[in-house]
Amino acid sequence: MTSRLSINFSKLGVPKKGTVVVLAGEGGELTDAAWACDPQKLFERAFSQAGFKGKLASAMDILVPAGHGYDSLVAVGAGEVGKRDEQAWLRMGGAAIGKAPKAEELAVVLDVPGQEIDAGHAAGFALGMILRAYRFDKYKTKKREDNNGNGNGENGAIGSDKPLKVTIHCANPTAARKAFAEAEAVASGVILARDLVNEPANILGPVEFAEAAKKLESLGVEVEILTEKEMRKLKMHALLGVAQGSIRPPRMAVMRWNGGKAKTKPVAFVGKGVVFDTGGISIKPAGGMEDMKGDMGGAAAVTGLMHALAARKAKANVIGVIGLVENMPDGNAQRPGDIVTSMNGQTIEVINTDAEGRLVLCDALHYTNERFKPQFMINLATLTGAIIIALGHHHAGLFSNDDELATRLASSGDVTGEKVWRMPLGDVYDKLIDSKNADMKNTGGRDAGAITAAQFLKRFVGDTPWAHLDVAGTAMGSPASDISKGWASGFGVRLLDRLVRDHYED
Ligand code: BES
Ligand code: MN
Ligand code: ZN
Repeated sequence: MTSRLSINFSKLGVPKKGTVVVLAGEGGELTDAAWACDPQKLFERAFSQAGFKGKLASAMDILVPAGHGYDSLVAVGAGEVGKRDEQAWLRMGGAAIGKAPKAEELAVVLDVPGQEIDAGHAAGFALGMILRAYRFDKYKTKKREDNNGNGNGENGAIGSDKPLKVTIHCANPTAARKAFAEAEAVASGVILARDLVNEPANILGPVEFAEAAKKLESLGVEVEILTEKEMRKLKMHALLGVAQGSIRPPRMAVMRWNGGKAKTKPVAFVGKGVVFDTGGISIKPAGGMEDMKGDMGGAAAVTGLMHALAARKAKANVIGVIGLVENMPDGNAQRPGDIVTSMNGQTIEVINTDAEGRLVLCDALHYTNERFKPQFMINLATLTGAIIIALGHHHAGLFSNDDELATRLASSGDVTGEKVWRMPLGDVYDKLIDSKNADMKNTGGRDAGAITAAQFLKRFVGDTPWAHLDVAGTAMGSPASDISKGWASGFGVRLLDRLVRDHYED
């Protein structure tokens, strides 16, 4: 779904109509440019009545009496100057959208006491607006006509089909417009990832997901789709074993963005794309199983990332590989106790068919490593319930064999707010997946479940710098925030776009 927002930038001035948004500094302080929008000083009384103190991303709106010109005035809190980091701008943009009921036209006066707002801030604000405005409502046949909402969360025109025209008035609109072009590329990557995660599995199977990846060709991404037959030839029996219980055939999408110098080694991102995870023969309990349509959140993030990088023409060579399967119980499904041989020749005893993500990823990782010899591989996967027990929904689990890569990921996480927390790896954990019948088994028991899953993956990456992000708690079932109304967050796109931008562009 594309954004319903169209955003333009203009010089600072007094807007004439629609909903007008101003920023309020600490204590509810407004600049002259903001007061110029409120000559009657309606805000003065409103702030004191409501106890509005300009706290970051808080917001209050007032209906303007007839004849004034505007429909409503909105103040968005900008918090303390010293605490206003990069994310603060996204959050303020999100808060503005949250207070724009029914608006068809929104004007933002981007000016705040004590700080000069630059192009990056303005672009961040706009990005926050787009991310907050996102809705997955394509299957709602009755669109909202009024402001009452329909149980879909927030109110307003954003929930309707009406486009919302936004004008951001700021000091340097030309520079802001330029910065926004990049932010918009990232926003569309995040939205693509959210859409893929939200899409139900009857609509989005492995074949359909591969088609979605193929669409990135229009942005200049080279996309190859491996079929079941080709994967069989490559001996990806671990992945194929998972897929064999589904009547829908597996796919692997290989995406390449060549934006860097020809001789620069690529960086690679690998995603778990289980379009639905029933658990297979080791079937999951019924309660909440519908959420397993999101078990392709890793693959969605990789696809969204490739979209973002290509759309903003990143000067980097980037590989994206996603393993797409459906994990179903069936007469042909694999059984607990089955032994499969992965592409790199290692044998795996399948103790639990619900530990399928690692079986998909081990072949995808080995394939990526062998074919592309990347500088590093980062895989993303909704891999374990155990990582949710450990970290909840506010950090992804980070496992890595490379301190530099881990440190860089952690700082990209801090900057973007897509936070990661490093977890340990080690021989004591690795031992837990030794098998008496094969080279390894696919589960290590209840203890340290997220770590043994990571140890499993580590056995397939050789000496290549590698990081595994367990996004089970962050890609879906995510809590609502100022820039996301929840469930499918698109986690990973902004994080990894930032990593590439800060460290891997020529
Ligand atoms: N897709 C699940 C992990 C998951 C759980 C993602 C909850 C999002 C929310 C994964 O395939 C799985 O089933 N993992 C098992 C592994 C176990 C059988 C060793 C788990 O975490 O219980
Ligand atoms: Mn599973
Ligand atoms: Zn799974």
